Amino acid sequence: MLTKRLITKDTYYVGGSDRRIALFENVYPLTNGVSYNSYVIMDKKTCLLDTVDESICNTFIKKVSEVLGLRKLDYLVIDHMEPDHSATISNLLQKYPDVTIICNDKILAMLKNYFEDVAMPYVQVIKEGEVLDLGEHKLTFVFTPMVHWPEVMMTYDMTTKTLFSADAFGTFGALSGNLFAHEVDFDHDALDEARRYYCNIVGKYGPQVQAALKKASTIEIETICPLHGPIWRQDITYILDKYQHWSTYDPEKKGVLVVYGSVYGHTAEAASIVCDDLALEGVRDIHCYDVSKTDKSYLVSEAFKYSHIFILSTTYNAEIFTPMEEFVRDLKYHNLQNRTVAIVENGSWAPQAKKLLTEIFASMKNIKVLDKTLTIKSSLKEEQVNDLYGIVEEMAKDFPKEKLSTNPLFKINYGLYVLSTKIDDKHFNGCIINTVSQVCTDKVLVSVNKANYSSELFSKNKIANISILTKHTPFSIFQRFGYQSGKTVNKFKGFKDFRLAKNGLPYISRFSNSYLSLKCVEIIDLGSHYGYICEVVDSLQLSNEDSVTYAQYMDFIKPKPARDEKKVVGWRCKICGYIYEGKDIPKDFVCPICKHGIQDFEKIGW
Ligand code: FEO
Repeated sequence: MLTKRLITKDTYYVGGSDRRIALFENVYPLTNGVSYNSYVIMDKKTCLLDTVDESICNTFIKKVSEVLGLRKLDYLVIDHMEPDHSATISNLLQKYPDVTIICNDKILAMLKNYFEDVAMPYVQVIKEGEVLDLGEHKLTFVFTPMVHWPEVMMTYDMTTKTLFSADAFGTFGALSGNLFAHEVDFDHDALDEARRYYCNIVGKYGPQVQAALKKASTIEIETICPLHGPIWRQDITYILDKYQHWSTYDPEKKGVLVVYGSVYGHTAEAASIVCDDLALEGVRDIHCYDVSKTDKSYLVSEAFKYSHIFILSTTYNAEIFTPMEEFVRDLKYHNLQNRTVAIVENGSWAPQAKKLLTEIFASMKNIKVLDKTLTIKSSLKEEQVNDLYGIVEEMAKDFPKEKLSTNPLFKINYGLYVLSTKIDDKHFNGCIINTVSQVCTDKVLVSVNKANYSSELFSKNKIANISILTKHTPFSIFQRFGYQSGKTVNKFKGFKDFRLAKNGLPYISRFSNSYLSLKCVEIIDLGSHYGYICEVVDSLQLSNEDSVTYAQYMDFIKPKPARDEKKVVGWRCKICGYIYEGKDIPKDFVCPICKHGIQDFEKIGW
């Protein structure tokens, strides 16, 4: 007893999977088999849509029989005559000799060729758009030649809005219980095999697939039932969008496919340098393959996926290295277009690969071969490394560079500290600073913006404490000491997490791992800041927690800007987040919170 699987109203799945198969069409390696799908509609009239490969014949006949029960099979619709879907027609006819075969004239011609000796007393040849009435379900037929053979048609159930799409929208891989694409992680687990199936089986026929997609766009589709792989009932636009890319030869992703053909490893070594150089140029999607090791069907699929192809091939018998020639010819046979290609050749005495590869690519549509090339004689020479890099650089121009910081000084690592000073013996002030450096055995340099109240107090009293903040310091500490001015606010009012050091000044007792008590011995005028050269007169470690860096503060402590902040057009202080509204910020503007100048502001909302 096999499980009946209902797909949509009155429509059952009667296909199955073959996991023993090693080569699909005796060409394409399969690691996890393939499914052969077939469907039965149970209406006043019963109708089977396509049969299956002979490898699963017994299971198929059993399933059809269980779904039909005691009823007879009225119709067999044949959408595609390739034997992976038609080989079991004769077995079916043995069991259901009265069935009427519904097909088009091209299918009928093939049917006679494949089954010369099989009696088919009832055949109804239909025309495109004709309607077959099953009772409640009305079927109509859309002819889609060359997707993937010339006779192919698709059947559309107008009642359930189901498209029986023949090979289109199929996928390599057996089905494991879940019949619908939305029931599996299609993007992660099946997309690569869907692409490999498409490119290798129908990749050559992009214009015909486009014509089929155009016809499909005129009908309302709720379910797509292909002859291989999962059924589509949700997110149908996902697979339609993939087919749009593949059938127009539009790269699915911006990336570089690096394929090398190497006999003794020297060309492979050059390929490895190409990959490193591409990465250093900021290209992130780089996929490198040895053409001798990887089946061509995977390489063709990758070539359909990525925008750029970097070929490195040795010469062999005065021709292109054989596996590389097969691969590149396969790209041509599958009609690949719209790619940028770089070619590097190797040849110990009479290199030929570059010339011959260029000729093949020149015969393909819209393939741009980079002018820069390189000939390696046996092994890449030291003086050629730059030439190789030049080709990579040329290709990498097509890839957007990662946005780099506008100011390399921002790459210097900083900590964050509370500098505490005194107003008088009972009143204190504190501010956030990011520059404290030990400049010799017993002295540190502290830099404070001249506009800060703390600078005024430190310059006057010559003593201060530095509390070294930890990674777990909450944002409230930065708000308290960094986002307001001591000239207008008593920053220690209501604050409990401090103690007084021996010098009578406060240090932050919580969220700092150490404090230093400083005595200023020299003040250097640095322009916007004063540099205080200080002796460390006392210090204490409070915990083993790591000190916070400025980068950690920006990444993990400082709240991210609110979404609607984007609506504001102006400038944002990169130090404290203060926003200046308006495009025209004065050149001498100083952040009223952290006192940084406009060099530390960035545009927002422009
Ligand atoms: Fe799955 Fe063209 O046959």
